[in-house]
Amino acid sequence: MSYETLLTDIHGDGPLKTGVITLNRPKAMNALNDQLMDELGAALLAFDRDDAIGCIILTGSEKAFAAGADIAAMKDYDFQKVYSSNYISRNWETIRSVRKPVIGVVQGVALGGGCELAMMCDVVFAAENAKFGQPEITIGVIAGAGGTQRLPRAVGKAKAMDMLLTNRWMDAAEAERCGLVSRVLPADRVMAEALAAAEKICGFGRLAVMATKEAVNAAYETPLSQGLQLERRLFHSMFGTADQREGMDAFVNKRKPAFNRG
Ligand code: HXC
Repeated sequence: MSYETLLTDIHGDGPLKTGVITLNRPKAMNALNDQLMDELGAALLAFDRDDAIGCIILTGSEKAFAAGADIAAMKDYDFQKVYSSNYISRNWETIRSVRKPVIGVVQGVALGGGCELAMMCDVVFAAENAKFGQPEITIGVIAGAGGTQRLPRAVGKAKAMDMLLTNRWMDAAEAERCGLVSRVLPADRVMAEALAAAEKICGFGRLAVMATKEAVNAAYETPLSQGLQLERRLFHSMFGTADQREGMDAFVNKRKPAFNRG
């Protein structure tokens, strides 16, 4: 399937491959308009449904992961329109339903909805030139796609308040120190490293990978005792998979496991 605001590609030569989605509105620094968010949702769901895909990478350009929601598109919206259409929930939350891991690769700016989109990814690799910010306050609104909720969970209240109230941006090194991103890499290596990490994930048992994502995400939604119970049940369910038998047999027989082949 082809898109007007995204590029998609498939990488890897193992049984499971990596689907790469590149945001592609270069003239608007990948500002996130409805068309882009609709296409992004469709591309994510297509890769999620595809049994040959084990991991998804979401990236932008060297200058911009995304500069936020499209301000030109929303400047004339009024309360009636945004409230009645429940603006953004329709197409911004698709990513939450994706069960395969999504690695965000951020180069350049991730601002407003761009920072929020990066935070919706499961793993974030940042180039050394990456910058994260929530500048909504400078245009008379507040963060609307999770910035006030995911940012304090990621970096703590003090840093989140600073970013959201004063429009202070974080560079990649600080973002890594604070737990907003997983790894920082030189710009010319960040995509290769993300592809290598994705390939690693694709080499593990697909059910174990999905269950890991499900269990970690539950940590944000449930009390500890319920989260631990879910983890235990998911752990138990792994004993119904061929990959558990393969992984443990390979370990005791000192050979490399071959997951996802049956
Ligand atoms: C629409 C945008 C845009 C945006 C950049 N552009 N960001 N268009 N929406 N969010 C466009 C510019 O208008 C310009 O178009 C072109 O991209 C290049 O931008 P410049 O400003 O000329 O480039 P530069 O000086 O390098 O500055 C880059 C920038 C700045 C720092 C990213 O553009 C900027 O501050 N953008 C807005 C960031 C922002 O406030 N984001 C939050 C949005 S609200 P032309 O046609 O002039 O060349 C939000 C809420 C999310 O995200 C809530 C959920 C929906």
